[in-house]
Amino acid sequence: MTNINAAISSFQKGDLDSAEFLCFEILNTDSRSHGAYFILALISKQRGFDVEAEKYYLSAIDIAPQSANYRIALSAHFLERDNPGSALPHLEHAISLDPLSFAAHTNIGTAYKKIGDLKSAVIHFEKSCKIRRSSKNVDSNMRENPDLTFHQSRIAKIEHDIEQFDFLNRVYPDKKNFRSYAEILRNILPDFSKRTDSHGSAVFTESEYNNISHFYNRLMWRYSDDKVSPILGDHQVNRGILGSFNNDTDEVLIIDNFLSERALASIRNYCLESTVWFDSKNDSAYLGAYMHDGFIPSITLGIGDELSKKWPQFFSDLTLTQLWAFKYDQEGHGTGLHADDASININLWITPDECCLDPENSGLTLYPVSIPEDAEFSEYNNDQNGLRELVSKEEENRLKIPYRCNRALIFRSRIIHQTSPYRFRAGYQNRRVNITLLFEKMV
Ligand SMILES: [Fe+2]
Repeated sequence: MTNINAAISSFQKGDLDSAEFLCFEILNTDSRSHGAYFILALISKQRGFDVEAEKYYLSAIDIAPQSANYRIALSAHFLERDNPGSALPHLEHAISLDPLSFAAHTNIGTAYKKIGDLKSAVIHFEKSCKIRRSSKNVDSNMRENPDLTFHQSRIAKIEHDIEQFDFLNRVYPDKKNFRSYAEILRNILPDFSKRTDSHGSAVFTESEYNNISHFYNRLMWRYSDDKVSPILGDHQVNRGILGSFNNDTDEVLIIDNFLSERALASIRNYCLESTVWFDSKNDSAYLGAYMHDGFIPSITLGIGDELSKKWPQFFSDLTLTQLWAFKYDQEGHGTGLHADDASININLWITPDECCLDPENSGLTLYPVSIPEDAEFSEYNNDQNGLRELVSKEEENRLKIPYRCNRALIFRSRIIHQTSPYRFRAGYQNRRVNITLLFEKMV
């Protein structure tokens, strides 16, 4: 094994000291080893030494300016540190070197989003998704494809995909091979289910992978329509539900009739038809679709402007920074206690009222408790016991907002909240779908 391979192997095993020692040994004999500098950057990153990491990334790039990967890694480092301005030139260079790098397009999209240029962000997210999720870019050999999204899954996800392809086959019987995709997944499911771990998750066998790789977690179909205008409906502010929760503060606003009829129908069709539900959540039966990975409904670019005209007191200085949707099973618990890392959340429900069997209990619960301004979100959100303890004294004062189609909850993102245990009718079109929009102040 060469020294560089030994260093990579030590790094991958988590033996950072040995990896570092080997890198310095390599540099003693070959001061232009960009690989050694790159591994040193990764080691420094893992140790939390950001300044040192940046220095090593730059040394690697200096020696090997044609490496798109080094520039992409450095850009990820800048983006983590909320420094999109420094990330952008490296990403533009990386894309000129490797125009088909989906990681470069995702990162440049994130950089544009962080500087408030949503239009450019969406262009690159779109490119990234089309490259990564195209049914034409399939690695025939499972072992050569390192992208886990294509070779592991969960029972709930496969069941959803079968229902979705059956639905698409009913709507578009003459288009694509939706019927055969549903059949293939139906045939795989019994054996797959026998192999799952306690989270309902398993890796596909090679033969399963060969049967599904051209359509599973690929962008096979997206609903599209013309520009929808207006996006927002005739807003009815529902103060009755709030009771004394808000008191004098303007922390929570409940708006019924949030989207116009046309926009609601458009996003509902988008969620039913589009094969963009690539994420299946741990320990839960719900799926996620994200703006950076193909979830770009027609309201995406226009909703921010309409909101700042309609609600200037909340949105005039804010930009849409995140957009995602969750699609749930027939009944369950949904997201646990958490807060979101933004200024303002909008949580919108789009499944028709007649699909919900228990509206009182199928919405969202908010607690009059916020995560402190200076707190690290990941620390709080990964500690369910800590969050439970935080809200335990406020159980009596919690606000349980009943489910209603086209109802939006607008609230400060730091307020702790969770999905109420929900119950919906069986059937693909009855699944609970909620859209989340996060808005932030641009610096
Ligand atoms: Fe949330």
